Amino acid sequence: MLFGEGDAVKTHAGHANRTSSRRSVDPAAAEEFLRLYHAECPEAGPVQPRLDLVRAQIDRHGTYAHTAGELAFGARVAWRNSNRCIGRLYWRSLQVRDRRHVAAAEQVAAEAVAHLRQATNGGRVRPTITVFAASTPEQDGPMIWNEQLIRYAGYRLPDGTVVGDPRYADFTDAAFALGWPGGQGTPFDVLPLVVQGLGEPPRLFELPADAVLEVPLSHPRYEWFADLELRWHAVPAISNMCLEIGGVCYPAAPFNGWYMGTEIGARNLADADRYDLLPVVAGLLGLDTGDERSLWRDRALVELNVAVLHSFDAAAVTVADHHTESHRFLAHLAKEERAGRITPADWSWIVPPISGAATAVFHRYYDEADLRPNYVHHPEARRLREVAIAAERQPAAAAASPS
Ligand code: ARG
Repeated sequence: MLFGEGDAVKTHAGHANRTSSRRSVDPAAAEEFLRLYHAECPEAGPVQPRLDLVRAQIDRHGTYAHTAGELAFGARVAWRNSNRCIGRLYWRSLQVRDRRHVAAAEQVAAEAVAHLRQATNGGRVRPTITVFAASTPEQDGPMIWNEQLIRYAGYRLPDGTVVGDPRYADFTDAAFALGWPGGQGTPFDVLPLVVQGLGEPPRLFELPADAVLEVPLSHPRYEWFADLELRWHAVPAISNMCLEIGGVCYPAAPFNGWYMGTEIGARNLADADRYDLLPVVAGLLGLDTGDERSLWRDRALVELNVAVLHSFDAAAVTVADHHTESHRFLAHLAKEERAGRITPADWSWIVPPISGAATAVFHRYYDEADLRPNYVHHPEARRLREVAIAAERQPAAAAASPS
């Protein structure tokens, strides 16, 4: 049981009653999307008959069903509209796996695994989305609790430190509370999926090892680097954002692109509240970490990022570097402009976390519009997840340490 009785959050058969998404689709949002689709895809025919049909469906059922064409277009445009993403040049190439008939936890998990295999593609990563059942006025669609399909556990030790990724320490606690026995206790244990199917409480599913491609990290010049036994997973697949198309919400719609090296080398492995490896790498480089002005952090960052790009290349796994990706983004901007569209972008996310001004995307500002379709965090669903995790943290604490 995830939610305590008397909690402000109403429970319903032991799982969250996520009321926020349980209302009729806004006909204006539906119309805006359909007009966009028919304007950009003339082969879909005249828009008016479709508008009439959808309007009637909303009047009768409070929602409507997208055609396969509308769904694929909607998912791709949601990527095109993602203000934080530098990699949008290839938005048209998104592979759309239409799994709207899938709503039970077991099948959602199986399809998430199939997604990983297809997207990983032996290392030639393919941008892919799998769309599960939509929310309706009667019930919420299924939901994946994990932030990404593949993430590493963070095990809290009694002394307050964390083995693994500290960002997922709370999630790891919640997984223990749901009955996860824990992994091997390494800093790179893959977390299980936590899937909430239609009308079901959240359930755990281990990812099969062969669905999770990982890259061991080494450095082209420093042999000691491999001894750190660092690794990262090949595919970043965000799984806790809703795909919102024409007023319809798909709460489970995991999607992936390929990595840009800095996401791993300048953030995941470097941030002080993540793997915090700059002092370690700087030490091994023989730098003076007592003196900020030796720029030991900066030099360690560069070598970490060299290692990430080198290792992905050596493993023949797709990875972008931030210079190339910056040029691609400006090419995307120009292309969109020629198509008569704006490209909304969030400067603070687009500019890479190292060498900002050495990339072309630094030297300008961007439109900040918030367009639909898009991938969104529904605050209500998130809040409920936090409530669930907090409610379970007490009993979890004892089990949280693998040792
Ligand atoms: N920054 C996130 C991570 O390090 C992934 C976000 C999506 N990135 C992408 N290249 N599609 O895991």
